[in-house]
Amino acid sequence: MNLCTGVDEIRDALRAARAEGLRIGFVPTMGFLHEGHLSLVDLARERGCGFVVVSIFVNPTQFGPNEDFSRYPRDEARDVALLEARCVDAIFLPGIATVYPEGHATRVRVSGVSAPLEGERRPGHFEGVATVVLKLFNIVQPDLAVFGRKDAQQCAVIDRMVRDLDLPVELAFGETAREHDGLAMSSRNAYLSPEERALAPRFHAALSEGVAAVRRGASTDEAEATMTNALRGLPVEIDYLRLVDPRTFLATESRDCELLAVGAIRVGRTRLIDNLRIVAPSDGATTPAT
Ligand code: PAF
Repeated sequence: MNLCTGVDEIRDALRAARAEGLRIGFVPTMGFLHEGHLSLVDLARERGCGFVVVSIFVNPTQFGPNEDFSRYPRDEARDVALLEARCVDAIFLPGIATVYPEGHATRVRVSGVSAPLEGERRPGHFEGVATVVLKLFNIVQPDLAVFGRKDAQQCAVIDRMVRDLDLPVELAFGETAREHDGLAMSSRNAYLSPEERALAPRFHAALSEGVAAVRRGASTDEAEATMTNALRGLPVEIDYLRLVDPRTFLATESRDCELLAVGAIRVGRTRLIDNLRIVAPSDGATTPAT
């Protein structure tokens, strides 16, 4: 396995793989890996990638000034061991100065789908994501890049960027990996105390109730009220619980397209996000291409 920290190094490894005619798969991550990340590696293999690269980079530009950049969990040695066991071909572990060298001044802003929900609550977040993802795409030049659907709005932003800029990369989106009790796997789950961890699956349960309400014919307001009621009285802070069109992340009353029950809550100091897709029975509308 290639462990690369420099741009030239990873490009050399990729050049050799391309010379062998291998399809390049890419899984960008911020490390502290869990089964959700590893399942994205598997998805890249299933989609025919003979050479899979995983990047590990905790990207400072996607964190707000009062967010958790400095305490974001990191365990490089464990991540490398997990990826080695999954037979990943290369790990790209750049330092901050490699990604953002002195004088770096370019930012990528995707408007529209970046604006609501996470965009509203985390100003600059998606600009940081789009900037680093475009940069990583330019370094790796993958045939296929894989992202997890837990970060649904991020998937939509990246999909928009790829389409708008005609980037020569295919995207795939992996299903959210869940713990046995429904909690979406996330590196940030490591922040939860045992009491908070016990409470956290109620979030997934609330989203599931919203989905059930929609399937019974509830309006958008009713479905959102159902989700809110499911968390009522619990010591959690609801940031938002919404029913949206996954192409725009705006509220919709349409039932002819795929819908997303999406939310963010705080359990103690930890902010969790999650979503559930509601596939329309009838039509051809889709979320970002799979
Ligand atoms: O989803 C993540 O882990 C990050 O937002 C990403 C895509 C690796 C960009 O830093």
